[in-house]
Amino acid sequence: MGDPVAEYTSRIQRQEREIKCLSDEIEKLKNPEALVTSSQLDELREENAKLKYRLNILKRSLREERSQCSKNMTNINQRLQEIFGDAIQAAYPDLESPPLSVTPNQQAKFGDYQCNSAMAMAQMMKSRGLKVSPREIAERIVQNIPDNEMIQKTEIAGPGFINVHLKKPFVSKLLTNLLINGVQPPPLQSRKRVVVDFSSPNIAKEMHVGHLRSTIIGDSMCRLFEFLGYDVLRLNHVGDWGTQFGMLIAHLQDKFPNYLTVSPPIGDLQAFYKESKKRFDEDEEFKKKAYQCVVRLQSKEPEFIKAWNLICDVSRMEFQKIYDCLDIKIIERGESYYQDRMTDVVKEFEERGLVQLDEGRKIVFPPGQSIPLTVVKSDGGYTYDTSDLAALKQRLFGEKADIIIYVTDSGQAGHFQVIFAAGQMIGWYDPKVTRVEHAGFGVVLGEDKKKFKTRSGDTVRLMDLLDEGLRRSMDKLKEKERDKVLTPDELTKAQRSVAFGCIKYADLSHNRINDYVFSFDKMLDDRGNTAAYLLYAYTRIRSITRLANIDEEALRRAAETTQVLLDHEKEWKLGKCILRFPEILRKILEDLLLHTLCDYLYELATTFTEFYDSCYCVEKDRQTGEVVKVNMWRMLLCEATAAVMAKGFDILGLTPVQRM
Ligand code: ARG
Repeated sequence: MGDPVAEYTSRIQRQEREIKCLSDEIEKLKNPEALVTSSQLDELREENAKLKYRLNILKRSLREERSQCSKNMTNINQRLQEIFGDAIQAAYPDLESPPLSVTPNQQAKFGDYQCNSAMAMAQMMKSRGLKVSPREIAERIVQNIPDNEMIQKTEIAGPGFINVHLKKPFVSKLLTNLLINGVQPPPLQSRKRVVVDFSSPNIAKEMHVGHLRSTIIGDSMCRLFEFLGYDVLRLNHVGDWGTQFGMLIAHLQDKFPNYLTVSPPIGDLQAFYKESKKRFDEDEEFKKKAYQCVVRLQSKEPEFIKAWNLICDVSRMEFQKIYDCLDIKIIERGESYYQDRMTDVVKEFEERGLVQLDEGRKIVFPPGQSIPLTVVKSDGGYTYDTSDLAALKQRLFGEKADIIIYVTDSGQAGHFQVIFAAGQMIGWYDPKVTRVEHAGFGVVLGEDKKKFKTRSGDTVRLMDLLDEGLRRSMDKLKEKERDKVLTPDELTKAQRSVAFGCIKYADLSHNRINDYVFSFDKMLDDRGNTAAYLLYAYTRIRSITRLANIDEEALRRAAETTQVLLDHEKEWKLGKCILRFPEILRKILEDLLLHTLCDYLYELATTFTEFYDSCYCVEKDRQTGEVVKVNMWRMLLCEATAAVMAKGFDILGLTPVQRM
């Protein structure tokens, strides 16, 4: 017998193609301009109705097959949306694209989820001269809910809210699936190629806290896309080209004339940069020489390329230290990569008549934008704008990206807006098909709410910052006397996990759009929504299984044989919370706001605590401390919680430890 999953998958794919064809047909039919006779029109209408009917049947069977064959986690919210979508369609077949809204209910007493479509639908009908009360609409929707395995009952409340109560056996079955298959991503429509441009520091200049934010946020976005099954290209658009290299190379030639044979000691590249900048500003001769160096570098003279490589290597090693600490994988593809492509891109814009001359500069002014791009400077050199145009084109056509995301501070939003507008103007992409987006973030502030600086007012070096994190996390562990319990190896692991986890989490748990205050005290606090709290919560859950003496194998067997009971109010609450994971990820995919995941994990941890406080998992003899009873279905709830938490950590780039 063939592989049933593969078989189903190919059937699903076939059906998807059929659905696509049918949808296209329907679209065509909707546009009866070309039609002449009314009898033809009637015929088409009839055919249209039949096609729609067939399409709906196909869609439903597709969904059913998908849920049967897949190991993937079910997105309950989405499934409910589909059910309500069908119900609305059946209740009001003539209403064009009715509003569909299903959300989880915050208060359990109103049910588990809620559909709020009736109110918006009443509005819609009113605007067409139809007065129907939302309650009436809600009733009709409820009457048309198709048979399904999810909904226990519905209630209409207030002006027309439909409260949904889920079936316990359904939720229990999903938990069992999760325990047996592990935390699998929700099914993916099609495998898309994603480019994430993040981190992107500048050679010889400081990698500052802004780059740290970009590194942390960008890495987490990549991890999310990767988990969901996308094909992700992580790009480091390093600033490794430009006029500053002229002065760096000129200075190198003066200070270390034998640099071609002996590696120069420029460990402190920033000091080197400062020295050369000083000379550049003060010494006319030097300045001239620096400009000559730029020209010779651009014409790729080997000696100059060698000098350039030397300088880049020093920076690269510094950046790598940071990436190693934070476990960041990224491919360097700096501005220099686009050198030749820039020439072509400028030519392309010129040939299309899209370039204007402005005081010796060549500019591109996309419609509706308030500032133009400078594609060639008056001295003939290219700019940040030019390299970003070339990069955009290469990513669209070379990489065939379906999604391109740029993670930089919000200060660059204007720059990207014009770049994207120019790309659309010249017809490189259609934003309805390709998603090209700037994911901006606010600035990092010190605890004084001013720009993040050291006490002496200098900019903070990232490596110093990470070192301080390590020191402080060790202090915390010692304060709790963990050094007396853990082996030295465990202690170091815990120290790194807490230090780097906290720095990442503090960044990710705030809405990236806002500025955020960097505070070691806050991020290392193990109460509240911090990595320290979550990491401790996770190890605690893990230790419950240890306490009960259950190994992985026993848990796996239990998952297959023991039903996850959800009779206790707190069990029910926890079970539903665990299963909200896919809908959280789905939302982040749309808005790229990772703090939603942090909020969710925090909610999961606190919901778990509520459960653990009122439901015995392991019962012990008070006198002997011996385990007398293990409530296996509750152990399974612990396990499912831990599994989802671990996956969440993974997406945030946090490394949990077994003991801490
Ligand atoms: N190197 C730039 C900076 O430090 C960030 C580059 C972002 N990516 C891009 N394609 N422009 O500000």
